[in-house]
Amino acid sequence: MIIGVIGYGVVGTATAELLRRLGHTVRVRDTDAHRMNIARTEGFGEIDEEEPLEVLFICVPERHVRDALYSAPDSPTTVVRSTVPPGTTESLSRELGHPLLFLPETLREATALWDALNPALILIGCPDKEQGERLAELFAPLMAPVVLVPPSTAEMVKLTLNAYLHTLISFWNEIQLICDLTGLQSHIVGKLCSQDPRVSSYGAAMHGRPAGGTCLPIDIAQSIGFAESKGYEPQLLGAVRDMNERIEGHRDEVTNNGHRPHSSPGGLPKLQLAPVSEAS
Ligand SMILES: NC(=O)c1ccc[n+]([C@@H]2O[C@H](COP(=O)([O-])OP(=O)(O)OC[C@H]3O[C@@H](n4cnc5c(N)ncnc54)[C@H](O)[C@@H]3O)[C@@H](O)[C@H]2O)c1
Repeated sequence: MIIGVIGYGVVGTATAELLRRLGHTVRVRDTDAHRMNIARTEGFGEIDEEEPLEVLFICVPERHVRDALYSAPDSPTTVVRSTVPPGTTESLSRELGHPLLFLPETLREATALWDALNPALILIGCPDKEQGERLAELFAPLMAPVVLVPPSTAEMVKLTLNAYLHTLISFWNEIQLICDLTGLQSHIVGKLCSQDPRVSSYGAAMHGRPAGGTCLPIDIAQSIGFAESKGYEPQLLGAVRDMNERIEGHRDEVTNNGHRPHSSPGGLPKLQLAPVSEAS
């Protein structure tokens, strides 16, 4: 198949390379000349309006999705990969007068290609079963479970996943602030808590920095904005977002003072374990 990828950043690069490895011819477009040079160096030709595409993936930042779609070449199947608020794909689809699909990307920046090659789930947001199944065929060699849902459900799943991950980071960052006041080592507390099978290890042993990367901070803002647009004030998500600023300030304080405020001196951490019989 000849497949187009618009936006050759983190997601576009992984998507293009994945599809090439699955045996397809991939063409790329990026408004940034530097990114286009990288694409050429990596062996991807530019999208040519004369060459019909069978599938087109949109991998640009959320604020550029509409522009990218309006200037996109014709394709029988156009798939949005950018993280967008629920309802966006359907509303753009109505605006453009042709159906769009939404295929959320769950890769991590540091391991983008590996994650793209090893998805836990292929979640396809599609207007109907036939179009969803056609897109699913493209990823069949990955042997991952496929679930077809309406686009807005897939959009909400993607935002919810990132809000959940951000919540875990902010949760452990708050625990660190409390531990620092009492001279306890939050990383040991986190590590021990995560031995309980009910507790996720995400953020437990590794915290102390704001949620970073290009996605989590933007996506929590998208989740908050989406809830507010529906007339709901998401207090918990607001606190999750605000914790990012607080931990950044705390980090500056640690860096400037060279030590954690109120922390215990070096040596063994002051773990105050209750006797086993008192543990609940
Ligand atoms: N980075 C991640 O780990 C990750 C993971 C999952 C989802 N996402 C989502 O995927 C989308 C893209 O993220 P990214 O990290 O790949 O972004 P990025 O900034 O790395 O790359 C985006 C690319 O799109 C190009 N671009 C912008 N407007 C364009 C246009 N109109 N036409 C053609 N090219 C255009 C930019 O020049 C840039 O090279 C975002 O919505 C993001 O939230 C990112």
